[in-house]
Amino acid sequence: MSRLFNVAVVGATGAVGRMMIRVLEERDFPVKNLRLFASERSRGKKLTFKGEEIPVEVLEEQKSFSGLEIALFSAGAARSLDYAPRFAADGAVVVDNSSAWRMDPEVPLVVPEVNPHAVAGYKNKGIIANPNCSTIQMVVALKPLHDYSRIKRVVVSTYQAVSGAGQKAIDELIAQTKAWCQEEEIPEARVFPYQIAFNCLPHIDVFLDNGYTKEEMKMVNETKKIMEDEAIAVTATTVRVPVFYGHAEAVNIETEEKITVEKARELLSNFPGIVVIDDPGAKKYPLQIDVAGRDEVFVGRIREDESIANGLNLWVVADNLRKGAATNAVQIAEILAKEYL
Ligand code: A2P
Repeated sequence: MSRLFNVAVVGATGAVGRMMIRVLEERDFPVKNLRLFASERSRGKKLTFKGEEIPVEVLEEQKSFSGLEIALFSAGAARSLDYAPRFAADGAVVVDNSSAWRMDPEVPLVVPEVNPHAVAGYKNKGIIANPNCSTIQMVVALKPLHDYSRIKRVVVSTYQAVSGAGQKAIDELIAQTKAWCQEEEIPEARVFPYQIAFNCLPHIDVFLDNGYTKEEMKMVNETKKIMEDEAIAVTATTVRVPVFYGHAEAVNIETEEKITVEKARELLSNFPGIVVIDDPGAKKYPLQIDVAGRDEVFVGRIREDESIANGLNLWVVADNLRKGAATNAVQIAEILAKEYL
């Protein structure tokens, strides 16, 4: 029998944490014992894994994390900064879904279809960073094209689901939509800066001095690190849309050599983890409501950018809680379990 691992999910009660537990179960990850951590607010809660009810432990009450081998973190950057080194010091390898460690040169930033070899870098600090959800799905689509002809420049605009901002954001869209349908006063925005129901917000995470949002700069910087090519020019506009699950992206690329539409379809179709849905005549293209619940990255609307010599346009869609977060983290844990631990 293959070896089993003691695993923790930190932030287990959140939108991503719950999905991590589900994906561990679905993919039959070799778990010996699963421990779940959240905040004081979750005291007394239990969550189900493989038919068994597991009590949620209050993170801040724990003095030692020894005995754990893999810890999947999704409790926000502040908790990751504080607790990831403590779990690592006690012997666990942390796969962290927050932005806290992503740009640390000693911490690998991994998308298994793109740079699986980087997992080896966990040995530096005992931490591996899971990239930003929008970056993950984009780099999966870029990789087979980049390997064929180097990508010089990427211009991306995103259409991101509210679940990327956590469970409270999902609840906020439901409450605002319900109130609108019942012709009641729309409750005040708390998670988002403005009403999200029937609205699009060109504002994800905080604004930086250069006028971009932090989410936009994550796409710029993380893409270079994962693709291991500092020269790729990336510019992004990230937008929150009133969709529950699934991020969509309009991606424009410029390559060194020409990639025809037919070649791009072939390269993308043959790449692991990508599904091409691209039949304009039959009105077929990827949609957020269709990809919710799936683990692959979906690509459609593949067409030449006729305004430049070597340009392509793509429409890239994936489930942000799965491939954009939980599935990617569990795939990293699978590489650790199979090849390193
Ligand atoms: P809790 O549910 O107890 O607040 P989301 O991104 O969906 O909002 O989820 C965030 C996750 O991070 C939740 O599981 C949340 O737990 C957890 N979390 C937030 N603050 C803390 C904290 N101080 N200690 C431990 N877990 C925390």
